[in-house]
Amino acid sequence: MEYLVMLPGPTNVPGRVMNAMLSPIINHRSDDFRALYRTVVDKTQRVFQTSNDIVVLTASGTGAVEASVVNLVKKGDKVVIPVNGEFGGRLADLIDSCGGNSIRINSKFGDNPPLEQIEGAFESNKDIKALYAVYNETSTGTTLRYLEKLGELCSKYGSLFIVDAVSILGGDELPVDKWGIDVCMTASQKALAAPPGVAPISVSARAKKQMIENPPPTQYFNLKRYFKYFGDSGETPFTPALPLMFAYREALEMVLEEGLDKRVERHRRCANAFYTGLNELGFTPFAHPEARSNVVIAFNYIPGIEDKTFRKILGEHFRVLIAGGFGELKGKVFRIGSMGEVDRYHVIRTLSAIASTLKIMGIQTKAEAIPVAMKALNV
Ligand SMILES: Cc1ncc(COP(=O)(O)O)c(C=O)c1O
Repeated sequence: MEYLVMLPGPTNVPGRVMNAMLSPIINHRSDDFRALYRTVVDKTQRVFQTSNDIVVLTASGTGAVEASVVNLVKKGDKVVIPVNGEFGGRLADLIDSCGGNSIRINSKFGDNPPLEQIEGAFESNKDIKALYAVYNETSTGTTLRYLEKLGELCSKYGSLFIVDAVSILGGDELPVDKWGIDVCMTASQKALAAPPGVAPISVSARAKKQMIENPPPTQYFNLKRYFKYFGDSGETPFTPALPLMFAYREALEMVLEEGLDKRVERHRRCANAFYTGLNELGFTPFAHPEARSNVVIAFNYIPGIEDKTFRKILGEHFRVLIAGGFGELKGKVFRIGSMGEVDRYHVIRTLSAIASTLKIMGIQTKAEAIPVAMKALNV
C-alpha cells in the first residue's frame, strides 16, 4: 500500500503530476522542448509572482541554493544571514567556503532573531553585498515572518536580497517582486507537490548583471550559461530531466488552477489543525508561536517516546511517514510536512495514526484530538 508522505519533502504527488512523467521523450534541442520550457518559465513566474528571469535547474534544492552563492558571492564579500537552524547554518558555511565573509545573526532554534538585530548588522558593517535568508527553516519548523521588511532593509542599504524558499514556496505567501527579492530559489518536491529533481530560481536584473560580469569558474551551476542559452535559443545549456519537466509543468498548472490565495489558506487551515490536534494529544510545539511554520510542523517528543520506534510504528502499521529531528534536535522532535496537496484527509489520517501509535506504545491520550482538529478544519 502506498505511503501517506507527510515528510517535509518529498511530499505526496498527485496522480495527474505523476502521469505527466509518462509523456514520451522529446528532443531537448527542438521546438517541442522550447515550447515546454517557455510554458514552464511563464508558469514559474506566475507562481513566484515575479517578472524576473527564471532558470529551472535539473537538481535538488541544494543545487539552486549553491547556484545562488557561487554566482554572486566573491572573495571578501560581506553577507548577512540569520541562522536559527540547520539550513541557515549550512548556507552560511557555503558562503564562507566560497570566500565570502558571513555575518551570522544567530538566534535560538525555534525562534527568529529580532529584526533590529539584522538592521544592526547593516548599520555596523559597511558595504554589505547581500542578505541571505532561509524563509522557512525546515529543521525547526519556523518561518521568518518579516521577509518583506528584510526586502526594505536591503533596498535602503543597496544590498542584494536572496531567499532560500525551498521548503515553503507554494505553501505560504511569497510575492517575490513585491517583497524586493533579487534571487529566490525553491525545489519541486516540497510545497509544489512535484517529484524531486527540479529546482527553479528567479533572478532580478541587477543580480543577473553581476552574474554575467563575474561568472563562477564552474560549468553546471554557472547561470550565465543558462541566460545565454535561453536568450539565444529558448533552451537550457545541458540536458534537462525531461520527464520531471513535464511533471513540474503539471504541478504548476495545478497551483495556478487552485489559485495562490486559496492554496495559502488551505495550508494555514491544515497547519492550524495539526497544531491544535497535536496539542490535544499532549505534545508541545517546538517553535515559538510568532515563528511557527504553516508548512513544517515540529513538535517535542513526550518523555518516554523513542523517536525511531514511534516513526517505525507509524510507517509500518499505518503507512504514514513523518520525519524526526536532525543535528542537535535528533530524537527530541518530530516534524510533519503539511505541504503540497495536504488537505483535511491527510491531517485526520496522520493525527489518527499518531493517536493509535501512542496507544500501541502504552501512552494515555485524550480522545478529543480528532474532533478538535476537525473543528479547526471546518469539517
Ligand atoms: C530550507 C531548505 N534549504 C535547502 C534544502 C535542500 O534541498 P534538497 O534536499 O532538495 O537538496 C532543504 C531541504 O529540505 C531545505 O529545507
